[in-house]
Order: sequence, then structure tokens, then C-alpha cells
Amino acid sequence: MSTVRVRVPGKVNLALHVGETDAEGYHLLGTIFQAVSLNDLITVERAEPGQFRLSFHGEGAGFLPVGDTNLAMRAAKLVASHFGIDDAGAAISIRKRIPVAGGMAGGSADAAGTLLACSELWGVHAPRDVLRQLGAQLGSDVPFLLMGGTAHGSGRGEILEPIATTGAFHWVFALSHSGLSTPAVFREFDRISQPQPTDIPAPLLEALHAGDVHAVGAHLTNDLQRAAINLQPTLQHTLQLGLEHGALGAVVSGSGPTCAFLTASGRDAEALGKQLALFSGVRTVRVSTGPVAGAQVVRD
Ligand code: C5P
Repeated sequence: MSTVRVRVPGKVNLALHVGETDAEGYHLLGTIFQAVSLNDLITVERAEPGQFRLSFHGEGAGFLPVGDTNLAMRAAKLVASHFGIDDAGAAISIRKRIPVAGGMAGGSADAAGTLLACSELWGVHAPRDVLRQLGAQLGSDVPFLLMGGTAHGSGRGEILEPIATTGAFHWVFALSHSGLSTPAVFREFDRISQPQPTDIPAPLLEALHAGDVHAVGAHLTNDLQRAAINLQPTLQHTLQLGLEHGALGAVVSGSGPTCAFLTASGRDAEALGKQLALFSGVRTVRVSTGPVAGAQVVRD
């Protein structure tokens, strides 16, 4: 194949519990991920052997590095080295919709999508579980973005168990004017908090199984939220505003600063989005649904 296109979702954490650190300083997590319909689109084309190029357009594109520090670039080179593809080369072009440095795993999504895209481009057709193992070497969220749906994540977030849910979940995401650095948020967590138990409370799992969106909303939780608010105090107002305008639940997504609001319907989500967009602390809003599939090849 000479061109491959892959669509890859962002994620929201419905619960995020942060425990002890492991030997390498990573925090052990207990989380529930959901993949949502806020997608990046990755296009890879064959290039001369040894040539790897990366470009971005769309949401926040100008802020992203395009060299070897970028996870998508590392993903392409990892596929080439792992499968021993001597003539590997790729031009990778990524249209961003997932907010940059927003707590929705945009960088990990691009790595997940690039793993799949390069595996197809070079004719490797690696199985998902192999791509997931490679993904875990790149970042804790990468395996989930290959999997999609709703899942319980443990370890650093890379040990995944799918969770069966009922119905669609309607989300509003309020994007911030500036991003937050994930390591900085974990550092602030360490400064202000003790490690927490990482078990997911049964009521949230039961509510997800049953599709009880009111109960899911009531149980949204994130141990990193206080740390993210300390670094960006306006998030507190954004969350409060969403609850005042009828959100069933409000939570900072992952390490933030994107705030996630669960609503009862697509119509409620549109209405809430309009209210949130008026707040000066919010740069823009996105209405979206979950769960959706993980990284998928797009066939024209
Ligand atoms: O895995 P990822 O590259 O997304 O993590 C970015 C940073 O966030 C890590 O370098 C680490 O500082 C912090 N982190 C952590 N514990 C995790 C995941 C991330 O401390 N489970």
C-alpha cells in the first residue's frame, strides 16, 4: 500500500485513582477509560528508505514537536525496528482535533494511530495485541487507544480489561486556554496528596453496565483533579458552571486541563456546550459521544 489513513479517538477518564509509585517513579493507577468521538486523522505515505517526516495541521498543530521527541515519530521508528523493515520510510501527516496537552491523550492517540498505520503501510499487518505491547513502550495511554470502547486500566494504565456498557454517553468537553504538563500534575499530586487506593468502586461499574447515566455522572472522580486545579484555578469555576447548567457529573479529564461533563442526551450536551462556551475561562467546547472504537484504518 502507498497510503494508509487511520482514525484514532481521544479518551476521557471516568475514574482515575492514583496509588504508589513503582521502581521507575511511575504512579500505579486504577482508571476507567472511555474512547470518545473526538478524533485525530493520521495519514502515512511511503517515503525513501530511512526518511521519516512528520507534520501536523488543525487544533494546536503549531505547538507540537515534529522530531524524534514526538511519540508518533517514535511509533513509526519502533514499528520499523521491531519488525526489521530495512527499506522503511514514511511521511506522516496528522490532522489534530484532540486537544493538545489537554488530558485526553492526544499525543498517545497519535502514537497508537501511527503504530497501526505503519504496520499496514509496510505490510506487517501486526495483530492488535502486538501493537498494544509496542504501544506500552511509548506511553501508558497508548494501548487503550488501540483498544477503544470502555476499559478498566491498571498498572500504569496499560493493563486493560474491557468493560461492557449500555447505550451512548453524551459528553461536553471544555478546552482551556493553555495546556498542562502531565509530569507537572503528577508532581503536584505528590506534593499535596497521599497515594490512594486504586480499586474502582462497584457502583460506577454497575452504573456503566446498566447504562444509568445519572449514576455514572454522580460517580465521576479523579484523584489528579485537585492538583490540576492548583495549577489552573479557573478549572474549579468551569466545573461548577457545568454543574449549575445541568451536567449530570463534571470531572477534569486525566491530568487536565480539559473538563468533561456528562449529560443525559445529545440535545442536553449541545445546550450545555453553548453555556460553557460563554465563560471566559473556556477557550472552546466540543460535544462528543462514547464509547467508540480504538484506532481504525479508514477505507475511502
Ligand atoms: O506515560 P506517559 O508518557 O503518558 O507519562 C508522562 C509522564 O506522566 C511520566 O513521565 C510521569 O512523570 C507521569 N506519569 C506517572 N504515572 C503514570 C503515568 C504518567 O507518574 N502512571
